[in-house]
Amino acid sequence: MSAVAREVHGPEPGEVYLSREAIASRVADLGAQIARDHRGGERELVLLTVLKGAIVFLADLSRAIPIHHRLEFMAIAAYRGSGPRSDGRIRLLKDIDRPVRGAHVLVVEDIVDTGLTLNYLFTTLRFRGAESVEVCTLLDRPYRRLIEIEPRYVGFTAPDAFVVGYGFDYRQRFRNLPDIHLLAR
Ligand code: IMP
Ligand code: MG
Repeated sequence: MSAVAREVHGPEPGEVYLSREAIASRVADLGAQIARDHRGGERELVLLTVLKGAIVFLADLSRAIPIHHRLEFMAIAAYRGSGPRSDGRIRLLKDIDRPVRGAHVLVVEDIVDTGLTLNYLFTTLRFRGAESVEVCTLLDRPYRRLIEIEPRYVGFTAPDAFVVGYGFDYRQRFRNLPDIHLLAR
């Protein structure tokens, strides 16, 4: 592709980092583990998903958890400074519909990177009286943390390379790809 065409179309998905089969197998394990850990609990289990990226993971994960749970959604955005990375300030775009007071909240994330997003969520959910707040993330980059946060459930430890597919986007594209790819530059 010419330099001009690449400029117009932008980077494309490259090699497959995680196949749909590898993802499905790991999601099944995570679902079983979450059900084991929460079965028989007196508190309601709420899967709180951060829009938009994690909805693909949530759709599979929820169906892999064979115990009752409720779904809630939040949308947040990081303020962008002049650089490509956020400066840590977070803005709430959509709040949960029903209260989580007294519930066990499991935050479902696509990837935990710096931890800034989760830090904001933790503060918000504790303020709202959640009994506990835990995290289940499909991908984790623990070596990139700015805030000390350890997800209880992790699908895969990810390389320091941008990924797309299975909910992950590059400028709102490629979320629909069934596998997770490295973004070819
Ligand atoms: P953080 O933990 O606050 O830095 O937030 C990580 C967020 O950045 C994720 O929820 C994604 O929306 C986004 N993100 C980080 N790495 C990637 C990537 O490789 N591909 C697509 N989105 C990413
Ligand atoms: Mg996200």
